[in-house]
Amino acid sequence: MKTNGFVEIARVKKTFKTRGKVFEALDEINLQFNEGEFISLIGPSGCGKSTLLNMIAGIESCEVGTIKLDGQVIKKPGVERGMVFQNHALFPWMTVYENIMFALDCVKEGATKEEKDEIAMKYLELVKLTGAKDKKPREISGGMKQRVGIARAFVNNPKVLLLDEPFGALDALTRGSLQDELERIWEEEQKTVVMVTHDVEEAILLSDRIVVMSHGPKANIRAVISVDIPRPRQKSDIMDNQEFIKLRKQLTNMLSQESIA
Ligand SMILES: Nc1ncnc2c1ncn2[C@@H]1O[C@H](COP(=O)(O)OP(=O)(O)OP(=O)(O)O)[C@@H](O)[C@H]1O
Ligand SMILES: [Mg+2]
Repeated sequence: MKTNGFVEIARVKKTFKTRGKVFEALDEINLQFNEGEFISLIGPSGCGKSTLLNMIAGIESCEVGTIKLDGQVIKKPGVERGMVFQNHALFPWMTVYENIMFALDCVKEGATKEEKDEIAMKYLELVKLTGAKDKKPREISGGMKQRVGIARAFVNNPKVLLLDEPFGALDALTRGSLQDELERIWEEEQKTVVMVTHDVEEAILLSDRIVVMSHGPKANIRAVISVDIPRPRQKSDIMDNQEFIKLRKQLTNMLSQESIA
């Protein structure tokens, strides 16, 4: 397992130019993530969390500074980085199973139909969707769509999983059970995960470290906080853990200072 520097963000700045105006979104971001680490990005709305995640994904360009994955500079999207979008981004005319097979078809060119089917079924089982495999997105709930998105990001065995507010639009109950599910899958798969969230409790429940960003423009890193709570963690169990309560207070204070600054 590669420790520090598996994902390496060095002196990264981001400027947007729109209608002749320059907007300096990110200023001097320096971060290093370990292989197998679960990282959350948290910060005020508009500070640049999605921008930074999209730059790691290669969807957004990086003109100043460098972002490396396992020593390689990221220049464009790649199969070693799986992305889960907030709006699911499933093909509406395909079933759950076909959506997953499509992701596999794009990448595993040499694999037989049976090999791909085996992988698709393994991940459908992991997200507990075997029974819904032949349904279309319109026939399943928001939480189920989100789970298809997670399965689809996992099937190509990416080195890094990038999640942009994956549970943002869900009710508290569905959110809670998906958080527990993601924690379980992460325990099993030990992937490097970078997740954007607005939810302090979600960040503490899932993360090894939480990156707190300052407000924009020219946002940077306010703090990087380690979460030393033993795993496996279940939402129902950790709510009265002393470390959890302490971290929740610390993070909530930091975020309220950032949003009024
Ligand atoms: N393509 C773009 N062109 C111009 N400005 C942009 C573009 N994308 C993002 N921005 C600006 O950059 C800043 C950061 O946006 P970003 O979407 O990364 O924020 P965020 O932290 O993800 O916010 P939220 O929590 O609300 O999702 C915002 O001020 C936004 O208006
Ligand atoms: Mg965002």
